[in-house]
Amino acid sequence: MSIKVESIPFFSISFWRLSLSNWEQKKEIIKELVDLKPDEDRIGICYSDYFQYNNRPPYMYKFIEVIQDEIVEFFNMAGVLVEQPNKWQMWTQMYTGADHHPLHNHGFGHFSCILYLDYDKEEHPSTRFWTPMPDPFFGNVNHLHPEVEEGDIIIFPSTIYHECPPTNSNIPRTIVAFNVPIADQSVQQNVST
Ligand SMILES: [Fe+2]
Repeated sequence: MSIKVESIPFFSISFWRLSLSNWEQKKEIIKELVDLKPDEDRIGICYSDYFQYNNRPPYMYKFIEVIQDEIVEFFNMAGVLVEQPNKWQMWTQMYTGADHHPLHNHGFGHFSCILYLDYDKEEHPSTRFWTPMPDPFFGNVNHLHPEVEEGDIIIFPSTIYHECPPTNSNIPRTIVAFNVPIADQSVQQNVST
């Protein structure tokens, strides 16, 4: 006897990995723009310009210019209308040794993005993302370290909890994080499926 059955995947969450083209060239430009100062930008857990610039660093528009073609194409592909760059938020963080960033999320209504600017996959962990709901059968709260390369941007829903575990490496791990607000909330259904 054969049965008629199909799997219905409820509650799946989309993440994306955008690998920037011409990375070596873009990296050189972005490294010139980003200006973390070891003396001023130490925030205890890592180096960050998050507080210094209140999420609007002076390099924000130039940074966006560098990635503009690819990130715009991504949002077109995703079928979402996003806010203009003057509404974006951005910050840069660097980690060495025991530096880390504890569990947090980026609030509601954004595409959150992490560009891996200085990243050696043999030395550094990628970001650890936690599922917002327990495993429905066993109750475990699962997590995921996506495979990333330097020059990749991981794009994810802003409410997803995530953290950067200690790198335990003397080689700096630097990321540029940014939030891109969703302009048209009527697309909610599209984005989440
Ligand atoms: Fe974050």
